[in-house]
Amino acid sequence: MAILPGATLGMLGGGQLGRMFVVAARTLGYDVIVLDPDPTSPAGGLASEHLARAYDDREALDHMATHCAVITTEFENIPADSVAYLAASVAVHPSADALRTAQHRRLEKDFFRAQGLATAEYLALESEADLAAAGGFPFPAILKTAQLGYDGKGQVPCDDYAALAPAFESLGGKACVLEQRIELACEVSVVLARSQAGEVDCFPIAQNSHAGGILDVSFAPAAIEPALAAEAIEAAQRIADGLDYCGVLAVEFFVSSDGRILVNEMAPRPHNSGHYTLDACATSQFEQQVRMVCGLPAGDCGQHGPVAMWNLLGDTWPDDSIPDWGRVLAEPRAKLHLYGKKEARPGRKMGHVNCLGDSVDEALELLDRIKSHLRR
Ligand SMILES: Nc1ncnc2c1ncn2[C@@H]1O[C@H](COP(=O)(O)OP(=O)(O)OP(=O)(O)O)[C@@H](O)[C@H]1O
Ligand SMILES: [Mg+2]
Repeated sequence: MAILPGATLGMLGGGQLGRMFVVAARTLGYDVIVLDPDPTSPAGGLASEHLARAYDDREALDHMATHCAVITTEFENIPADSVAYLAASVAVHPSADALRTAQHRRLEKDFFRAQGLATAEYLALESEADLAAAGGFPFPAILKTAQLGYDGKGQVPCDDYAALAPAFESLGGKACVLEQRIELACEVSVVLARSQAGEVDCFPIAQNSHAGGILDVSFAPAAIEPALAAEAIEAAQRIADGLDYCGVLAVEFFVSSDGRILVNEMAPRPHNSGHYTLDACATSQFEQQVRMVCGLPAGDCGQHGPVAMWNLLGDTWPDDSIPDWGRVLAEPRAKLHLYGKKEARPGRKMGHVNCLGDSVDEALELLDRIKSHLRR
């Protein structure tokens, strides 16, 4: 039975993705309890109730299980055991199994391969003893920690085999995945919503560019061949089906310079490259997450018009002051989103701007103008 407005939803994690979920849920008339240990978390202040407790705090989990009709997450590194504990007494989407797969790069890649999907060549390295097995590996490569990497953190480029041992040591000798470096034509992502019954709705594909390992700009629709777009959508759908996924799922792809679509990684939640949906689509990815976990039909994923999103990182903040927001707000087709984070550290995601246009080029021109307004 569908969970209707008036009910209370639970959110594990209180970052910006949780915040935008809270906004979407409260707009629809739901209450939301957020669990996040940070008393200043972006979602906590907008929630009906914020539990500033650890993710494995049994009392807090019991409180959520008692008061929430369904629980979801915005952060794949919520301990899967906490999710399994909650799932014993309340509906939780996505499942602990889906989270476990997404939390571990090797399990994730093994899963993609088992679905018959192409990825970059990779090799799991559990300990120093495994390094010898990389003798025949197709370098150049990137060594990535198997767990807890994000925004390019926990990654070291390795041009050749000789670079591997020092790289492995610099990452703490922990379980890693060695991944072949792909010559990229571009990167794209698919954000989709999958219901408990298995219906899938995809947003238009976003094309993404990174700076310093962090997403910088996403625009939609992506400028790739229709056949590649169809292949990416098919692959994302197969991943969601293979996980019997319920909720919003994002899948990142490499488009190689020789024209192949390779699955990079997935996120079991709304994704930074789907923020454009807030201002350019009939339904946002966050409303879609509310709808999926509540057992409601998906909203329309259709796009009104071209859009380009720019991530506002802490680097944009001048020392001891704030950016000149008036210059962004003076642009009628720029939509400003700030996450309410007090401290602007370099590389920290503080907000984003969605730039609308009659074409992607026009949206990107507006984005460049805004970048130049805010340049320090
Ligand atoms: N094998 C590769 N070949 C070429 N580029 C790569 C490769 N792996 C990573 N990159 C580049 O680094 C970016 C970040 O890598 P990845 O998605 O693995 O990291 P992450 O830290 O999990 O990132 P996030 O969580 O921010 O998506 C990629 O989007 C891509 O631009
Ligand atoms: Mg990534």
